Amino acid sequence: MKIKTAEFVVSNTDIKKCPKDSIPEYAFIGRSNVGKSSLINMLVNKNKLAKTSGKPGKTQLINHFKINNEWFLVDLPGYGYAQVSKSKRQVFQDFITSYFLNRNQLVCTFVLVDSRHEPQKVDLEFMRFLGENGIPFMLIFTKSDKLKPAAITKNLQIFKNKMLAAGWEAVPRIFTTSATHKSGREELLNYIQELNKI
Ligand code: GTP
Ligand code: MG
Repeated sequence: MKIKTAEFVVSNTDIKKCPKDSIPEYAFIGRSNVGKSSLINMLVNKNKLAKTSGKPGKTQLINHFKINNEWFLVDLPGYGYAQVSKSKRQVFQDFITSYFLNRNQLVCTFVLVDSRHEPQKVDLEFMRFLGENGIPFMLIFTKSDKLKPAAITKNLQIFKNKMLAAGWEAVPRIFTTSATHKSGREELLNYIQELNKI
């Protein structure tokens, strides 16, 4: 898919204030610092569309970006970041939960995990929440530039096995990306393009 336009639309913490357009929407979620905002920038070829940082906890709002005037990419705060206060984490969790339970336009959620790490408890819990609520999701292994291909293959298998051990009957499709090397871009955009047609 060719990206012709990518525009910031609105940021908020209130699902009621999210754009009303009933166009397809795709959300990026995962632990803080996993590379959600960087991946959005890589996909749309704009370095500064979504704000990124070396420090976890950068994205704190629901951010809507309109792509090609046809669909939305949504950047969300990370989950599982211990350094923010408990009360703030609860606020994040409440509006993220509300977003996922109420956003009818959401076609697919991409759960991002760092290629280097095994699935953490928070990842498995979050995927369980999506599964229990019938919210479709796919997985993205980020920061693949930090590992050799053989190590990525090994970690993919470990991840799949952990999901199966956690009770999943099947494992969703897993994309592998690097925002630094700009890899995995076409595959992900083509997948979104196919979903947009449905
Ligand atoms: P929060 O908004 O805090 O939840 O983080 P995030 O998931 O949006 O992560 P962000 O995109 O801000 O990236 C976090 C850090 O990881 C930054 O220092 C990025 O430069 C770095 N990073 C992101 N993607 C990649 C990647 O593909 N490869 C490498 N090597 N670093 C990456
Ligand atoms: Mg972010």
